[in-house]
Amino acid sequence: MSTPEIRPATEADLPFITGIYEHAVRHGTATFELIPPDLAEMTRRYRALLDGGFPYLAAEVEGEVIGYAYAGPYRPRPAYRFTVENSIYLKPAIHRRGIGLQLLQRLLVECTTRGYRQVIAVIGDSANAGSIGVHARCGFQMIGTHPNVGLKFGRWLDTVMMQLAIGEGAGTIPEGNS
Ligand SMILES: CC(C)(COP(=O)(O)OP(=O)(O)OC[C@H]1O[C@@H](n2cnc3c(N)ncnc32)[C@H](O)[C@@H]1OP(=O)(O)O)[C@@H](O)C(=O)NCCC(=O)NCCS
Repeated sequence: MSTPEIRPATEADLPFITGIYEHAVRHGTATFELIPPDLAEMTRRYRALLDGGFPYLAAEVEGEVIGYAYAGPYRPRPAYRFTVENSIYLKPAIHRRGIGLQLLQRLLVECTTRGYRQVIAVIGDSANAGSIGVHARCGFQMIGTHPNVGLKFGRWLDTVMMQLAIGEGAGTIPEGNS
């Protein structure tokens, strides 16, 4: 497989992205959604993120989007405005080839450029070694586990919280916010 191009996602990518996420919803425990959102809903979510100024990236190989990553608001209350939550999904066939790492590293650059200070990964399922591994590789620290907060496929599932300070982190107060 040739090297993927990591670039901002466009609306033309959303059919691929919807398909990747559909597989994750139907077969995986990384997401706690139970019914895959359709293209219209994925388009609505994409536009909401872009309108909010958040980064949304695609990994493309030979005209096919094989993975995507985005950051969005961590929580809606305004004091959280310098904190984002990130997500990454790849087609299952291309796991463990370094593409998740490339997507996450580029996403962190995009988040830093936009002035965010903390990135939080809320990882579905403490057995999700791939997601825990790729976040750890990027320097995320383990914050802790919420045990048994999800129920999917007849199994209680944990969420694992990991966090990375970016840019100046908590070292300074962003201008105009004192
Ligand atoms: C999580 C995911 C994005 C990781 O992407 P990936 O391309 O498979 O991971 P990479 O090949 O870039 O791995 C980078 C590093 O992460 C760690 N890692 C990745 N997969 C791992 C695994 N299964 N076990 C342990 N460590 C792992 C390793 O340190 C790896 O570096 P190495 O291969 O040199 O040892 C991908 O597996 C995926 O899409 N999973 C399903 C959806 C999901 O869980 N998304 C995350 C939602 S929060």
